[in-house]
Amino acid sequence: MAEISVKINGQEVQIEKGKTLLQACEELGIDVPTLCYHPRVAIEGACRLCMVEDKKSGQLIASCTLEADDGMEIETESPRVVEARKLVLDLLLASHDVDCFACERNGDCRLQDYSYRYGIERTAFPGERREFPIDNQNPFFERDYNRCIQCGLCVRACHEIPQAGAIDFANRGFSSEIATPFNVPLEDSTCVFCGMCVELCPVGALVPRLDRFTGRPWEIEKVRTTCAYCGVGCQIELNVNEDRVVGISGYGESEPNYGDLCVKGKFGWDYIHHPERLTAPLVRKEGKLVPTSWEEALDYTARKFKEIKEEHGGDALGGLTSAKCTNEENYLFQKFVRAALATHNVDHCARL
Ligand code: FES
Repeated sequence: MAEISVKINGQEVQIEKGKTLLQACEELGIDVPTLCYHPRVAIEGACRLCMVEDKKSGQLIASCTLEADDGMEIETESPRVVEARKLVLDLLLASHDVDCFACERNGDCRLQDYSYRYGIERTAFPGERREFPIDNQNPFFERDYNRCIQCGLCVRACHEIPQAGAIDFANRGFSSEIATPFNVPLEDSTCVFCGMCVELCPVGALVPRLDRFTGRPWEIEKVRTTCAYCGVGCQIELNVNEDRVVGISGYGESEPNYGDLCVKGKFGWDYIHHPERLTAPLVRKEGKLVPTSWEEALDYTARKFKEIKEEHGGDALGGLTSAKCTNEENYLFQKFVRAALATHNVDHCARL
């Protein structure tokens, strides 16, 4: 792969031809602020916060959109760049609800971080604003477009990752908003509730409903594990606060899912601490299911299997296994049914 040479803040870097200026900055460990950029989706260049100054032409360039060229000289924090970024943030704040104390993303919000970094206290453009009703109709996440900065990450995530195409920009100019076709409720759209829009939203416009008021971002410990819902083995991070799971995020750095989740993996975690969750095996005694030890439950089951097999033959028994098990567990299960129970009555919930 051909390499080119670019000078950034006086440091020379060799990068692969075809990489953007933003990627070149990343290689040097230079933090360039971005709001509408995410490596998982197409580049749009919507927010203009990643601007850098080209020293030769004197132009301000959105670094996420422009391919680096051999011999370029770039400044990432020149006075002109800083002034331009301040203006961008100022304009974004003009139509953003700055109710940070009530926002779930307080402390984990890129708009908040960059406003602090560039010393923006309040917008200089306190003009007319649109008011959006908060949409908390669907069971999984809340949409508060009073906080939306229209970076379009949610739209691109929806179109490109699950390819659901449930949302897009509607209207133009001051009336622009993110909406479903004909503004139907999300649950009546093609949304599959994968939650990728929520994961990529850089502010607090989209937040999972169950996670609300369960802990500030700095109180949350991330614990990497494997999703228990099926055999795919998606990598997730449990969001844990005081030994309780309060949310789930996709883990973006590993196969097989690279951060993608399905609706169950992303939003279906409330069973973990559910008061009705079974925490011990149950055996029916005198017509009632009663909690018992694993030893007693397994002895009881083995005894019943034996009795039924002796009395009616193996074909009176059958086994149904689950996609929640690993391939190895499923193999062992069918082996047990065929070899120990002496029947081919074995099936799997995921078989079509
Ligand atoms: Fe480059 Fe938004 S991050 S334009």
